[in-house]
Amino acid sequence: MRTLCMKYIFLVYFTLKTLALTGLTSLLDSGEDFEMLDEEEFDDEPPPLEDAGGGDGIDPDQSKRKETDGPSDSDPQQPADEWLDVLGNGLLKKKVLHAGAGRDSWPQKGQNVKIHLKTCLMDGTPVEELPELWFTLGDGDVIQALDLTVQLMEMGETALIHTDGKYAYGARGNLDPEIPSMAELSLEVKLLEATDAPDLELMPPPQKITLATSKRERGNVHYQRGDYAFAVNSYGIALQITESSSKVDISPEEENQLMDVKVKCFNNMAASQLKLDHHDAALKSCVSALAHEPENVKALFRMGKVLALQGEYSEAIQTLRKALKLEPSNKTIHAELSKLVKKHSEQRGAEQAMYKKMLGNPSSSSSTHKHQAKSTWGFSWKWLFGATAVAIGGVALSVVIAARN
Ligand SMILES: *[C@@H]1O[C@H](CO)[C@@H](O)[C@H](O)[C@H]1NC(C)=O
Repeated sequence: MRTLCMKYIFLVYFTLKTLALTGLTSLLDSGEDFEMLDEEEFDDEPPPLEDAGGGDGIDPDQSKRKETDGPSDSDPQQPADEWLDVLGNGLLKKKVLHAGAGRDSWPQKGQNVKIHLKTCLMDGTPVEELPELWFTLGDGDVIQALDLTVQLMEMGETALIHTDGKYAYGARGNLDPEIPSMAELSLEVKLLEATDAPDLELMPPPQKITLATSKRERGNVHYQRGDYAFAVNSYGIALQITESSSKVDISPEEENQLMDVKVKCFNNMAASQLKLDHHDAALKSCVSALAHEPENVKALFRMGKVLALQGEYSEAIQTLRKALKLEPSNKTIHAELSKLVKKHSEQRGAEQAMYKKMLGNPSSSSSTHKHQAKSTWGFSWKWLFGATAVAIGGVALSVVIAARN
């Protein structure tokens, strides 16, 4: 179970990294308003994958470059004072203002970096200034524009970054600091420090809990912005932290807290995967949550939904009944369950209609099929009845034939 989970997380992680580097993730960040994590509040469709062609008139040579392992390997030496088109689509550009300690001092993905950040709108309106912002490079802790460009900065370098809203705060914009929808931003960044990520095995449990929680909360931010793939990535990182082995003593209480974060991550991950229509993945996440907490109502509820989407109505109904048993007065579960029961019977109705057609006997079959669904005895009775009818028919026919002769 555990290794499967880890494999899965890695898969998601690497897929996302590739996506991020090809700039495709931006396709996911069209924003609709998603206020809360509880999916009952918004049953909307996932946001449309706008620009699904990925084309902003990218020239073929440059788009080819995007398929290589990101900007880092194939990037030509950036001449000072010139704009570097980071993704080759003109939407994210970087210019060196003051060079740093040389190309060898580029920070690595996964390292914790400290930057000085000044954010302005393109007309020069200052938005915010953070003298010391720490984040894990490439983890999706910050806007994409920073995650992608700081990888290309020398230690001590100051750079100017111009980014389209797509790699910043998207259509939803931001409240604090206030940033309008789809605003292009001008970022002045100085890279101050880069340190290797701490060894999780040696990390004191309270710190581990805090770290996992912050990654999970970052996932929630992505989720609320409608960036579900990024949300899955962040929950995956949080899960890796909760599942990392520990060489330091951990109290039962701390174990429980970690487990709590873990189950929440699986649940939120399932919600994100549902939004992405990754039903199999969502089902796996629910199963993982339930493996740790068999009576987790949210996981049961979501699993019921996924199963229903997969057309597994009887399993879905069973799962929702379990959820309802745990929360008998929950109207949301009631509503979902009765919806499913109705759908299920409609589905069976359709199947019965098909049987009727196949049997070509519309008058008798509807009642016999009801019995069939109820008990196996009904089924045998039907055949007994049928056989008797055939026998009587046969006798009658032979009587007629005998009479004619
Ligand atoms: C009902 O259950 C759903 C699914 O677990 C949950 O999200 C919701 O908060 C519950 N509602 C109430 C009123 O408890």
